[in-house]
Amino acid sequence: MRIAVISDVHGNLPALEAVLADMGSIDALLCCGDLVGYYPDVAEVVDRLRALGALSVRGNHELMATGAIPAPVERAGYYRIDWTRRALSPEQLGWLAALPCALELHRDGLAIEVRHASPWDEETYLYPDSPALAGLTLPDARWLFLGHTHHPMLVRAGGGVVVNPGSVGQPRDWNPKAAYGVLDTASGGWEQRRVGYDHRAYQRRLEVMGVDPRSVGLLGRMRFA
Ligand SMILES: [Fe+2]
Repeated sequence: MRIAVISDVHGNLPALEAVLADMGSIDALLCCGDLVGYYPDVAEVVDRLRALGALSVRGNHELMATGAIPAPVERAGYYRIDWTRRALSPEQLGWLAALPCALELHRDGLAIEVRHASPWDEETYLYPDSPALAGLTLPDARWLFLGHTHHPMLVRAGGGVVVNPGSVGQPRDWNPKAAYGVLDTASGGWEQRRVGYDHRAYQRRLEVMGVDPRSVGLLGRMRFA
């Protein structure tokens, strides 16, 4: 079974379409949250992933957009929380508010868990050198998928694996190509992929809207603590 895992699309439809075209035939599509926030295609991204039957958890941007948690005052403008809320219909906001904080499925002897940021919340950033990650031990054959950092990662944790597929819409490693990956449950293999798209055209579109175009493809080593 081929399971594609995406995360942190953040309303970037061209990047999402590039990833969907690249992944080919899959058996399931999982999303680690943050469908919305930052960029202008939030309604289209929500509709596209719903139509595909993607299984998604909620991210901190879903929690902020739906009012479940307040946006940090210093980042609310940068995140474009108010704009995002206005761009979504009440029905879409209701769908986002109902997303679970965790998903778990079992295929070919693998236990696959999806969370946005960490096993315990939607806001902790887990990088390969994070002390909290070093203390994490998973049972054999458990795959824990996380997003949130916008950095691809694969770390062994006991008998299990912690994977971050990276960000579709806003990679933060100086590489403008959209990041995602595919898990082959039969072989237990993870393929990390990067897909180019016309990010310069998207940057120009953002610039016209007054959104910082550098945030698409020109973010490197941006880490929130
Ligand atoms: Fe994010």
